[in-house]
Amino acid sequence: RRAGLPPPTRVSGGHHHPPPPAADLAGRLLVFRPARDKGAEGNAKCLDEKLWARLAKRLDYQTGDFLDPETYQALARRIAKTGHGNAIFYLATSPRFFPEVAQRLGDAGLLDESGGGFRRVVVEKPFGTDLASAEALNACLLKVMNERQIYRIDHYLGKETVQNILVSRFSNGLFESFWNNHYIDHVQITAAETVGVETRGAFYDNTGALRDMVPNHLFQLLAMVAMEPPAAFGADAVRGEKAKVIGAIRPWSQKMALRNSVRGQYSTGKQGRKKLPGYREEANVAPHSQTETYVALKVMIDNWRWAGVPFYLRTGKRMSVRDTEIAICFKPAPYAQFRESELERPKPNYLKIQIQPNEGMWFDLQAKRPGPELVMENVELGFAYKDFFKMTPATGYETLIYDCLTGDQTLFQRADNIENGWRAVQPFLDAWAAEGGEVHEYAAGEDGPEAGDELLTRDKREWHTLG
Ligand code: BG6
Repeated sequence: RRAGLPPPTRVSGGHHHPPPPAADLAGRLLVFRPARDKGAEGNAKCLDEKLWARLAKRLDYQTGDFLDPETYQALARRIAKTGHGNAIFYLATSPRFFPEVAQRLGDAGLLDESGGGFRRVVVEKPFGTDLASAEALNACLLKVMNERQIYRIDHYLGKETVQNILVSRFSNGLFESFWNNHYIDHVQITAAETVGVETRGAFYDNTGALRDMVPNHLFQLLAMVAMEPPAAFGADAVRGEKAKVIGAIRPWSQKMALRNSVRGQYSTGKQGRKKLPGYREEANVAPHSQTETYVALKVMIDNWRWAGVPFYLRTGKRMSVRDTEIAICFKPAPYAQFRESELERPKPNYLKIQIQPNEGMWFDLQAKRPGPELVMENVELGFAYKDFFKMTPATGYETLIYDCLTGDQTLFQRADNIENGWRAVQPFLDAWAAEGGEVHEYAAGEDGPEAGDELLTRDKREWHTLG
């Protein structure tokens, strides 16, 4: 989109021995095609066939073994032929190859920018599996390249609605006046999915909901809601504030981590009339797996703005609806103004920030239902994206790839952002490993186990209704 941007050299990942047959490679190129299913995320209803044809003509690939130095020499020769020397290496390989590939790119001189072209490396998730492995991976990458060459990707940051949290908070004077522990009672962050583990059983069974969603996606949402205004909208200022707020999450003791976490796993259930298999019946999942497909957590942020305000996080597969939302629950009115009426115990006000689907923001308010009696009703004050903007289907990746091409790291994770995220979830991982603890069952198609609700009811709160 920006004039003068040199075309990027996209280098497809190599393959572990032996190279796949040609048919497989053709299949790989086909993944660039938008999904046919209209309901699928990758479906682009407005695909421009001409543009696609232009792009497709420029796609090419280089096969090779990750562990063979010749692969990297071949890449070097291809890049040299482009003339400008710009290259982005997108590591979407199995994560165990990240260190090896980075090291070999470095050894082959492919990360050297002294020739004038940029050399950038995108690292897909999962970035480590705990704090120690994330630190080791960061150290390994930073041995062969600079922080400004590394683009640790989290597709949540590419979502319009996620970026809009900062714009809403910091360009409307209104929000700041109540955005603190004087007015906010607690915050709920939910990423509910209706899908199961699909074809990713082998990966997911070793990962679980906590690692898959919390230190990355849910903490990104938490950071957007809770961070202080950055001094500027540059990559370093924004990422500095995020690192601070994630770093301020209280590290629970093992006992408190157990008390403040709930794990669940879906069993057989239904979605409408459709019967759904239980997690343990899914392909490539161990028959007695204890891996969680649902997790709910309570975390506290120890800083002046948020002291005393719990943040409840939950995410799960095979829940009743697809809904990613942040519900900000305000403190009640200071006293019961309307005694002896239904209004004596008014419901709390929420601000719901709907990340997906039905993108928008809504305030739940109480209003008097017209009529002779004093009866209250919940009403909404809202902004729906579809009423104001033309939204094209997007996953988040589109904008992030563009940012990587233009060298803007604002929406990518810096080493300390990643490490602080793992530091905050490590107590849960340690507590579960040491104590075992229960993995509660919930029927596929339901909103997690009862224990997940109790995490809030014991604090005299409840989850905001999904959907
Ligand atoms: C991925 C997780 O990072 O995010 C998946 O590995 C999850 O398990 C997905 O389904 C959710 O992304 P989105 O954009 O559909 O909310």
